[in-house]
Amino acid sequence: MNLSTKVAIVTGSSRGIGRAIALKLAEVGATVVVNDIGKAEPVESVAEEIRAMNRQSLAVLADVSSPSDVTKLVETTISRYGKVDILVNNAGITRDQLIMRMSDQEWDEVLNVDLKSVFLCTRAALRTMVKQRWGRIISIASVVGIVGNPGQANYASAKAGIIGFTRTIAKEVASRGITVNAIAPGFIDTDMTRRLREEWKQQLKKQIPLGYFGSPRDVAEAVAFLASEEARYITGQVLNVDGGMATS
Ligand SMILES: NC(=O)c1ccc[n+]([C@@H]2O[C@H](COP(=O)([O-])OP(=O)(O)OC[C@H]3O[C@@H](n4cnc5c(N)ncnc54)[C@H](O)[C@@H]3O)[C@@H](O)[C@H]2O)c1
Repeated sequence: MNLSTKVAIVTGSSRGIGRAIALKLAEVGATVVVNDIGKAEPVESVAEEIRAMNRQSLAVLADVSSPSDVTKLVETTISRYGKVDILVNNAGITRDQLIMRMSDQEWDEVLNVDLKSVFLCTRAALRTMVKQRWGRIISIASVVGIVGNPGQANYASAKAGIIGFTRTIAKEVASRGITVNAIAPGFIDTDMTRRLREEWKQQLKKQIPLGYFGSPRDVAEAVAFLASEEARYITGQVLNVDGGMATS
């Protein structure tokens, strides 16, 4: 696997799964634009780690649910590196609440950050991918978007939305040499899942055939494969990286 001529944008990549994806793509040679929201220091620090690997990297602060920020993210990448070959839609949040107590704001925030962002970033990146007739769009969905999870109606809807979006865009852009796939991680050990109560985590592990939470690296390996030339004939798919969870 060799991505040394490729330029990748990984959204939400200052920590967790996004950071592991950014580092993995750099390991196989890619130039990586690291993105996140909030403070500059954590984003810059991942870009610095990548530069220390002798790869090119740029840190861009942008809120991926904001149309103007997404334009800035993609335009900054193109003005620095001339193109975007790989887009990884990874940024995501949770605002868990049972449906009867879920506020409009909790619904809207999750749908905007977890689903609208995928539309905005994909549309912006496709403008250049279509011209170069090569591209890889990989979006991080979730097992929750496939099997559901109490307290996550907003999150499950957004993640299921990513799956429908992926299958549709795959068909729209296939003739341009662009593949569009999703990864549905199960429970992965990151800040997002560290917040869960210990007893709940033990319960969840019983639903995972492999019996343990995955690591961000497990997801990153799958992303690197889908981004590679070797995966050129795979499009419109959802790859479960979940320890067998969606089959149980
Ligand atoms: N951890 C899991 O078990 C798990 C399972 C399935 C899917 N996922 C998905 O994987 C992705 C990464 O999750 P994680 O566990 O690493 O979570 P995380 O909370 O550690 O990281 C998410 C990153 O996204 C960033 N982000 C949030 N809103 C943003 C915005 N508007 N613009 C730009 N960046 C933004 C955050 O600042 C953070 O750095 C998410 O889409 C999540 O839904 C995670």
